[in-house]
Amino acid sequence: MLDADPWAAAQGFLPGRARELSTIAARWRVAASDGLQAVRITGEPGIGKSALLGAITGAVIGDGGRVARTRGDAAAPPLNPIARLVRTLAEGHGPEALAEGLRFDAEAVLALAPELRHGDEPVPAGRVVHLDIHRVADGFRRLLAWQAAVRPVALLIDDAANLDVASRAVLRNLVADRPVVHALLLVAEREEPEDEPALGDDTWATVVRLLGLPADELAAVIQRETAFTPGRALVDELAAATGGNPGFALEVVREADPARLAQGAVAVVSPAAEALARRRLHRLARLPGRDGIDHRLTVAAVLGDDIDLVLLEAVTSSSTPELAATLGR
Ligand SMILES: Nc1ncnc2c1ncn2[C@@H]1O[C@H](COP(=O)(O)OP(=O)(O)OP(=O)(O)O)[C@@H](O)[C@H]1O
Ligand SMILES: [Mg+2]
Repeated sequence: MLDADPWAAAQGFLPGRARELSTIAARWRVAASDGLQAVRITGEPGIGKSALLGAITGAVIGDGGRVARTRGDAAAPPLNPIARLVRTLAEGHGPEALAEGLRFDAEAVLALAPELRHGDEPVPAGRVVHLDIHRVADGFRRLLAWQAAVRPVALLIDDAANLDVASRAVLRNLVADRPVVHALLLVAEREEPEDEPALGDDTWATVVRLLGLPADELAAVIQRETAFTPGRALVDELAAATGGNPGFALEVVREADPARLAQGAVAVVSPAAEALARRRLHRLARLPGRDGIDHRLTVAAVLGDDIDLVLLEAVTSSSTPELAATLGR
């Protein structure tokens, strides 16, 4: 039996994201009458974008919908993220059914995921298929409309900053066309000032920007993920040090001295965060290109760019104006 309100259930699974989930639930419902809705989920690393997509998956399935999920991957061949969505949406349909459902758009869809063609030789991994991007976009839209008429669909795109240009073009085309189908497109991407958003700068998509969690919710996350119940003083210390970033707070707790944690001691955060930073710097030190500006950015990436410039100056042997320029302050 389906849950009475799967979106409310999802709120119970994900501490501190009730407002964000109800914004997204509203878009999901509006899509039933007004057609495709799009939501851009942004926020810093560890803030909970992927976790939110996980909770949405549960809610959509609980609501009788279908989820097709993919992610940007800088190492994957072009259009691979779209091909993954196509495979999910086309699942269970042979080439005849696809040809009938998609008509003249079937060819582009089959070219994108050639194994959908029965009897074809398997396609060698990594082969670059040259496809007309407009035809692929049309085929993808037709496939979505065809399937969404059967059951509403949520398209989940994680790590969208790593999407290739062709995949972005397909998604932008879909958003620009805004077909009247019961579908919700969710695009999660880190907020990097220098990156262009996957859907472009002037999209009509609803923006859900994830911020740090308040202390109570942070405590709930830690309790759930680590089975450790932090005391009030420790939670406040963690919330202040991490800006309420759940991923960061979990890393700090996992890094902290268990004996001190068990005593509920305050001042566990700073040594744990330093140990984390040391470990990351150690890894980064093995990467090439650490001179000059790269090195300053490396340190800022580890310590956060709101770090005190005087401290950063000491660590990187750079002058304050140089640092300010690098960090864009
Ligand atoms: N609201 C939450 N409740 C419970 N756990 C959470 C919540 N938000 C995040 N987490 C946990 O924090 C960690 C980091 O979250 P997540 O991986 O979703 O971050 P992200 O924004 O996707 O980061 P990245 O940009 O690196 O992909 C995960 O272990 C996740 O399960
Ligand atoms: Mg993520």
